[in-house]
Amino acid sequence: MLAALLATLPVVSMAVAELELLEAKPDLNDKASLQRGARLFVNFCVSCHSASYMRYNRIGRDLGLSDNHVRENLLFAGDKVVDKMDVAIPTGTANTWFGVPPPDLSVIARARGADWLYSYLVTFYKDDNPARPFGVNNVVFPEVAMPHVLWSQQGIPEYVTGDRPENVESDQLHALEASGEDILLHRHLVLSDGSAVEAIDRLKVVQAGIMEPGQFRKAVRDLVNFLVYLGEPAQLVRYKIGIWVLVFLAVLSVLSYSLYREYWKDVH
Ligand code: HEC
Repeated sequence: MLAALLATLPVVSMAVAELELLEAKPDLNDKASLQRGARLFVNFCVSCHSASYMRYNRIGRDLGLSDNHVRENLLFAGDKVVDKMDVAIPTGTANTWFGVPPPDLSVIARARGADWLYSYLVTFYKDDNPARPFGVNNVVFPEVAMPHVLWSQQGIPEYVTGDRPENVESDQLHALEASGEDILLHRHLVLSDGSAVEAIDRLKVVQAGIMEPGQFRKAVRDLVNFLVYLGEPAQLVRYKIGIWVLVFLAVLSVLSYSLYREYWKDVH
């Protein structure tokens, strides 16, 4: 085991850059956010990705939407509310288009985590390298085969790498952070002499989309919130049951304590 551990060491120290993921802060109690996320998911993702563990009417039930509302807002023509969220394009076609099939997203939030998903969805950027099939690349998933499907919303960002904090005036950095215009990514670089430095990368929208940058990030947060729900829909039910379990335990403790008093009352 030690040998195996040692064998991995050089790889770790050579790692060029450790990216700090952006925080998604999912909140499953926010029904409105989940509903907006569901809508984005259906409009922008289900054309390529399935979520075949999920049925439309279950989403309706969990998020407080009537079957009619689901039919009008979430369904493609021809689908029924009892249908699973299956993909519109056949796998073979997707393979020839993208080289890899778009994976099912039912449990992607459990596989990747909310922060990764959020960071992934907001860090597509323009890449003019002719080897890139859709003219874009991604910071957390380099060489990804997925196009920047939200470009009409976000616009097209450019990736500006490696501003060292010492080169950026700190008040300039604060101003950038406060304005919320650009997406700032913190990276920790390990240089070849072993010293560690921090770098700050920026994604700057150069061709505007229909959403403001802050508005776009909020929308992606809704989408990620929905993906987290999708990964474990029972969480919503569990929260509700959990509260009743706690109430039950509280009542039970009062009763048990009274019973205990009753039993021991005559002993002394
Ligand atoms: C035009 C088709 C298409 C659309 C639309 C699309 N994707 Fe993808 N997506 C892909 C392909 C292809 C991959 C596989 C990328 C790879 O492995 O290089 C992928 C990969 C992913 C992955 C990474 C999965 C993993 O862990 O390997 C996530 C997450 C994802 N997509 C989420 C989304 C979300 C959320 C949406 C909706 C906003 C969306 N996709 C819309 C084609 C698409």
